[in-house]
Amino acid sequence: MSKEVIAIEGGHLLNGTVRISGAKNATVALIPSIVLAEEPVEISGVPEISDVDALADLLRELNCEVSYSQGVLKVNPANIQNTPLVSEAVEKLRASYYFMGALLGRYKDVTIKMPGGCPLGERPIDLHLKGFEALGATIDWDEEKNIYHLYADELIGTQIYLDFASVGATINIMLTAVRAKGRTIIENAAKEPEIIDVANLLNKMGARIRGVGTDTIVIDGVDHMYGTIHEVIPDRIEAGTFLIIAAAVGNKMLIQNIISQHLDALLSKLREFGVAFEIIGDSIVVYGKLQEPRAMRVTTQVYPGFATDLQQPLTSLLTCGYGRSKITETIYEERFNHCAELVKMGADIIVDWEDASCVIHGPTQLHGARVKATDLRCGAALIIAGLMAEGVTEIENVHHIDRGYDNIDQKLNAMGARITRYLVDD
Ligand code: UD1
Repeated sequence: MSKEVIAIEGGHLLNGTVRISGAKNATVALIPSIVLAEEPVEISGVPEISDVDALADLLRELNCEVSYSQGVLKVNPANIQNTPLVSEAVEKLRASYYFMGALLGRYKDVTIKMPGGCPLGERPIDLHLKGFEALGATIDWDEEKNIYHLYADELIGTQIYLDFASVGATINIMLTAVRAKGRTIIENAAKEPEIIDVANLLNKMGARIRGVGTDTIVIDGVDHMYGTIHEVIPDRIEAGTFLIIAAAVGNKMLIQNIISQHLDALLSKLREFGVAFEIIGDSIVVYGKLQEPRAMRVTTQVYPGFATDLQQPLTSLLTCGYGRSKITETIYEERFNHCAELVKMGADIIVDWEDASCVIHGPTQLHGARVKATDLRCGAALIIAGLMAEGVTEIENVHHIDRGYDNIDQKLNAMGARITRYLVDD
C-alpha cells in the first residue's frame, strides 16, 4: 500500500503575498444553516477544503441542489427531504453535527449519526443535547450505532445557561432556537467571530438574533426563513498560521484579507517574541523576526483569548525561541500530539499531560524527518516545522491538512517554499 505525503525542503526564506481564504469554522456552520431556508442561498468566499465537499455531499443527501465553483456555493433547498444522515460523509467531520440543530429547527425531527473530526481527546456534545432538550426535544440514542434521533411536538423558547462557552453548542442551539416559538436566551454563550458570521447569515434569512459577540444571545423564533446571499469572513486561524510562518521563515510577507482584531491575542504574542509587523487596512506585512526571539508563555483561552487552534502552529515557532517556553491548554487538554512529531525533528519539548501543558527549550535547529499529522492543526505545526528545518520533511496523513487549509502548498510555493506531494510505501 502506498500513501501520499507532503514533502517540504526546508531552509528557504519566504517573500511575497498570500491571500487568506474564507473561514473554515464559519463555513462548516454556514453550510448546514442553509437547510433552514426555503429558497436558494448563495455563499461566497467558501474555502477549497475537503470539509466543504463532505458538507455539500450531505446537502445532496437531503435532496438539495448544490453547485460549488470558484469559492461560490449555491444551494437550492426547495425540494429538501429530511433524510436520516447516517452515511460515511457525516463521520468525516465533526461539524456535520450542525445539521442536528438546523434540521431539528426546521422539521422538529432529525436522525443523524454522531460525527468524527480531529481526535483531540474527549469531545462530548452534552451541552448541545442539553440545549435541544431545554427547547423541548426528546433524544433517543442508539449507542451501538451512535445514531441520535431528536424530535419534538413543539419547540419552545427558553433560557439556557451553557456550563462552558462552547462554540459548537452556541451555534447548534441558535440553529434550533431560530424556529422555536417565542424567545430563547443563551447565557454564557461563546463569542467567537464565526458565531457572529453564522448569526449574520441567519438574520439575513429572516431570523431575529441579537447579542451575538456578547455572552448573552437573544433569539426570537420565526415561522419562515428565506433565501439570501452571504460572504464568509476571513479565516483567522489560517491567517494566524501564515503570520507564524512569516515569523518563522519570512523575509517580507504581505498577508491579505485579515480582520486583525480577530488576531489580537496572537499579534501581541508575536510582538513579545520580537516579530516586526505592520497592520495596513485588512492586510498585515511581516518583516520576520529579530535575531534572538525570546521564549514565552502562552495559555489558550476562549475568544478573545489565545486560540487553541493556533497553539500547535506556535509550538513550532517557539523551538527557535531562546530559553524555556511553556504552552498551557485550557480548551482541549489533550491537544499535544504534535509535540512527539516535533521531537522527531529535533525539538526539545516535554509534555506534562497531567498539567495540560508543554515546555519547549530553545533554540534548537530542526531537521527533516518522516512525521505524521495526527490532526488538522498538528499538520499546520508540521508544515511550519518543515519550512524551518534543515533537509526534507515528509508529512503523512495529509487528509487532515486538506480538511482545513485551502491550497496551502500552492500558497507557500508562490512565496518561495519548496513543497511537493508524492506517494510513498507504507
Ligand atoms: C470549535 C472549532 C475548533 C476549536 C474550538 C475551540 C469548529 C468546527 N471547530 O470546536 O477548531 O478548536 O471551537 O475554539 O468550529 N465541550 C463539552 N461539551 C459540549 C461541547 C464542548 O464538554 O457539549 C467541551 C469540549 O470538549 C472542549 C471545549 O468544550 O473541551 C470547547 O469545545 P467547543 O468550544 O464546543 O469547540 P468545538 O465547537 O468542538
